[in-house]
Amino acid sequence: MVARVIPVEPFDLVIFGATGDLARRKILPALCRRYAEGQMPPEGRIIGAARTELTREEFHTMVSEAFDEFLGASAPDAALRAEFFERLDYITIDALGDDGWNDLSGRLRDDVVRAFYFSVGPSLFGPLATGLGRFGLVTPETRIVVEKPFGNDLETARALNQTLAAHFNETQIYRIDHYLGKETVQNLMAVRFANILFEPLWNARFVDHVQITVAETVGVGGRGAYYDKSGAMRDMVQNHMMQLLCLIAMEPPYSFEPDAVRDEKLKVIHALDPVEPRQVVRGQYGGGADTASYADEVETPDSNTESYIALKVGISNWRWKGTPFYLRTGKRLRARTSEIAVTFRDPPHSIFGEDAPWKANILVIRLQPDEGMTLKVMIKEPGPGGMRLKDVALDMSFADALGEDMHIPDAYERLIMDVIRGNQTLFMRGDEVEAAWAWTDPIIGAWQKSADTPKPYDPGSSGPDEALKLIHLDGRSWREIR
Ligand code: BG6
Repeated sequence: MVARVIPVEPFDLVIFGATGDLARRKILPALCRRYAEGQMPPEGRIIGAARTELTREEFHTMVSEAFDEFLGASAPDAALRAEFFERLDYITIDALGDDGWNDLSGRLRDDVVRAFYFSVGPSLFGPLATGLGRFGLVTPETRIVVEKPFGNDLETARALNQTLAAHFNETQIYRIDHYLGKETVQNLMAVRFANILFEPLWNARFVDHVQITVAETVGVGGRGAYYDKSGAMRDMVQNHMMQLLCLIAMEPPYSFEPDAVRDEKLKVIHALDPVEPRQVVRGQYGGGADTASYADEVETPDSNTESYIALKVGISNWRWKGTPFYLRTGKRLRARTSEIAVTFRDPPHSIFGEDAPWKANILVIRLQPDEGMTLKVMIKEPGPGGMRLKDVALDMSFADALGEDMHIPDAYERLIMDVIRGNQTLFMRGDEVEAAWAWTDPIIGAWQKSADTPKPYDPGSSGPDEALKLIHLDGRSWREIR
């Protein structure tokens, strides 16, 4: 299946933090791939910017090494690299001072889209926005791309929004949540709003509960300093899982326009019930045979930060009142798997008798890996022996349905092209981020005020036992992580 590639218009893209991990691992490979596919036009230009003194050639060598390290077999060949590097420049700049800014200004063209990607630590978001204003680099066709974390709580997010608003209109600000760029996450909207099948059943009358799982096998690795201040709640729930929850729970937007979609997501966040401490379980992984414990990895023996969290969330609106949403995410779990499982209620009456085995219909949307969908349905088991019922899976994997060699683009490929195109649908609006923090803050505040400590769990397990109880108390159980 050949995707239709529509080139974006010519642009200058400045990546602040170009020597950092995200730029080398994700942003530059994504751009090279879009170039290879013909979506980034030959007139597109990228300027890597960072504090490190490097020549253009030294920067190219660094990026080339990153391609080899992170893209493996799919790394671009020498000819493609050479072409791509013709469009890749480098500039040394001091985000906090004056050095480099005038030089940068001189390299930008006035008549093309201008995008500045803040791939830097959050403490530099404000200074960069101010620098762009101070050195007169902001044109009407300018956009900025802001990475997470967008604030650490409501107060800091609000202050950051205000700083950005001093130099940019909301239509120029692209707050990235890379989950929204994942093909399968966008597919959630296609499943819901391009099919008539599900919508009539998509409410508390027919849905018993929803489980959203984002499980990872990796630990915090070298990101300990950042992670230990964030924990799973800030790192995953406030942003990525919140976005998944919104896409599953929102009303149909009137169109796929940015504000139509974002308005509906915002309404979901406003309708979220406050979460009581008994509805949350936090966990922290211990050490394994050949893996360090969380506390060792972050080098803080008495760390009180969670590497796992499970929550029961309610939504108070007409559609969802009475249907719990169970969210869980964690590191060093048994398998890397992200999925959303919608479990439907039982039929009101069984014509096959009280004793007929019954399993609920479940729609599972697998986000990664093995992207696809499964619908569990009841059938009659073939053959004699009476009316024997059995649950079977209608199973669809994207790879089978769309061709084994189908390339599922990385989230950043889609999102960066959307920035150039000026399409904000898959980016978070300022009020959305603030609303998400307004819901998150009291949950974090409650365990900070109490003596709550994360429950230990074994690496390679499904998380702490207490998380099992959280859902068992409601007579339900988690889906297996595998
Ligand atoms: C990041 C978090 O935003 O998302 C990481 O900071 C996490 O801690 C990552 O590992 C997960 O992303 P993905 O795309 O691998 O599911």
